[in-house]
Amino acid sequence: MPSNIRIKTINHVGIPVWDRRVSLKFYRDILGLQVIPSMVDSPNIVWTKTLDGTMVHLIEPSDGENLGAPHTAFEVEDFDAAVESLRASGYPNISDTGERHDGQSYIFIDDNDGNRLEFATASGLRASSRVADALGYTTESGDNVVADSPSKIQILTINHIGLPINDRAECMGMYRDLLNINVIPHQVTGNTLAWTGMQDGSMVHVIDPPKSVGPRGDSRQHVAFEVVDIEATAEALIEADIEIIDGIGTRNDGQHAMFVYDPDGNRIEIATRGDHSETTRTVDENGYTNEDGALL
Ligand SMILES: [Fe+2]
Ligand SMILES: [Fe+2]
Repeated sequence: MPSNIRIKTINHVGIPVWDRRVSLKFYRDILGLQVIPSMVDSPNIVWTKTLDGTMVHLIEPSDGENLGAPHTAFEVEDFDAAVESLRASGYPNISDTGERHDGQSYIFIDDNDGNRLEFATASGLRASSRVADALGYTTESGDNVVADSPSKIQILTINHIGLPINDRAECMGMYRDLLNINVIPHQVTGNTLAWTGMQDGSMVHVIDPPKSVGPRGDSRQHVAFEVVDIEATAEALIEADIEIIDGIGTRNDGQHAMFVYDPDGNRIEIATRGDHSETTRTVDENGYTNEDGALL
């Protein structure tokens, strides 16, 4: 059955953290993300957003003891059609649908490699009077604390997410065939990953084995934030004592990128927007990319 899923963009990512007091010093005070009222009842989730409204949810252990898994939430054009296709797909661990306080509908499913994926409508479909304090603790009414961040860093949006996979051809059954995300030529050296791009240019990079072990597990799993000025961002990170562990590097399409870790060891990439519209690279259906007829 052909899939009816059409993805517009990344609505948000969920990043597991131990303690918001520690995490917000990084995400709010250094990266400049804005804390916004949470539209869910779970008290352990901090809602924040980038400048274009793409959200980052910081998720503390719901039981106080066990760190959760990261997830990526895609915004779809037609939610009911997406639910129908997901239910028919046979992918594991599908959840029930639910609706948040702002009217956003959602459903979860796993890919073949256990990556947790969420599919949702747009946010803010219904007005909400919920308010958040500076730490993101949200109540039904009161004063909303929106503090200007002292940060010079301006995170525009999420550029891409990196997901660890085990079998490229198999994983394309999800991202290419079910989710209808375009396989595009990647702009790096080697063929250890595949790039896929959505309507608005945001991307999913699926990354082959071997594991890349970072402070908190497999660092193939990462979120890439997009900035305009990566040099100024690097300076601000260094000023804030954040170690840049890799970069600033430049990709084939001119995209600049560097990597840092958040206080819990989640791998975070800071990147600029590349322009691969004029690429001479070609790509096969599984993302293996050629330049001048030679496999990279
Ligand atoms: Fe989510
Ligand atoms: Fe990346």
